[in-house]
Amino acid sequence: MKCNSGLESGAACVVMLALALAVSWGLSSPAWADEVELGRELYHELCAGCHGKDMLKPGLAFDLKTFPSQDFLRFEKSVLQGKGTGMPAWQAQLNLDDVRLLWAYVRSGG
Ligand code: HEC
Repeated sequence: MKCNSGLESGAACVVMLALALAVSWGLSSPAWADEVELGRELYHELCAGCHGKDMLKPGLAFDLKTFPSQDFLRFEKSVLQGKGTGMPAWQAQLNLDDVRLLWAYVRSGG
């Protein structure tokens, strides 16, 4: 999701920013559940094909349930820039807020 095209996505961006702020206030805030839900939608749209529906049966791709849960920087880098030959770079499609939502979902365990 980009933050620079049209009114509608502008509103969506405000929501995203609010969510990002809520997360920085503490993972126990009620917004945490919303983040996981939004991340789940993104995940199933973009990632499930390789990493498996609900992160189950990842096949040849990395098993995201085993990703180190403290290493957001590695997650961000792998998702935005890609990894190895199989993991595509997503920086043309996803911004940092999207990556945070995906991270929330991955850390929730699916
Ligand atoms: C076309 C298949 C494919 C898609 C789609 C895909 N991945 Fe991957 N992903 C892979 C493969 C293959 C690897 C293992 C790469 C390696 O280590 O060489 C991987 C690895 C990863 C890793 C681990 C990287 C590391 O640091 O070891 C993360 C995190 C990840 N993917 C997240 C995602 C997310 C989030 C999405 C959706 C936005 C996604 N992937 C979509 C194939 C895919």
